[in-house]
Amino acid sequence: MADARLALASLFVSILMLSMAHPFFACPTRCESEIKMQMYLHQVVSGPTHNQEVVFKSTPTIEFGRTVAFDYTLLDAPTPDAKIIGRAKGTHVQADQVNAGDFSHFSMIFQQGRFTGSTFQVMGMTPPNGVWAIVGGTNELAMAQGIIQFAIVKGTPNVESYRELNITAFIPTVSIATGSFVQYFDI
Ligand SMILES: *[C@@H]1O[C@H](CO)[C@@H](O)[C@H](O)[C@H]1NC(C)=O
Repeated sequence: MADARLALASLFVSILMLSMAHPFFACPTRCESEIKMQMYLHQVVSGPTHNQEVVFKSTPTIEFGRTVAFDYTLLDAPTPDAKIIGRAKGTHVQADQVNAGDFSHFSMIFQQGRFTGSTFQVMGMTPPNGVWAIVGGTNELAMAQGIIQFAIVKGTPNVESYRELNITAFIPTVSIATGSFVQYFDI
């Protein structure tokens, strides 16, 4: 009986010591702030100002595997004279063997206002209307998680499109500037 109590007590003490020595075992509470913003994504498929390029052309009809590199603009309005907020840089791949179904992954890089230099990392299927996942971010948007609801609100097929983006993201209020880094083998 005494042995069992002693074993339990020493187990507790070792867990306590482990949690003090190893930051991985500590569970800090995480605060986060919610951001909701709206903007527009301008895709120009063809013409002198096109902002995408086919890097792999597949067989006609459904074009499975067709890959496109893009550098789309993020705008404050769905109009040609709108202000550029940032850019969406990445690729989309026709990844559906039956129907059209583009899979996109890209970085949204902000170049105006409060989030200048910060990014969202985004991925998901890209029908005309749908939802992407925000799987991460950097700088002011470090470790972001969220969704982007999107819908084409203006455009001409095979020429250009304006997608409205409704962004809902949670940004943990972590301090990246403070705290020290432990060498890999010391963890
Ligand atoms: C974005 O939100 C507005 C409401 O603020 C709504 O009217 C609009 O349909 C939404 N757009 C998308 C693409 O979800």
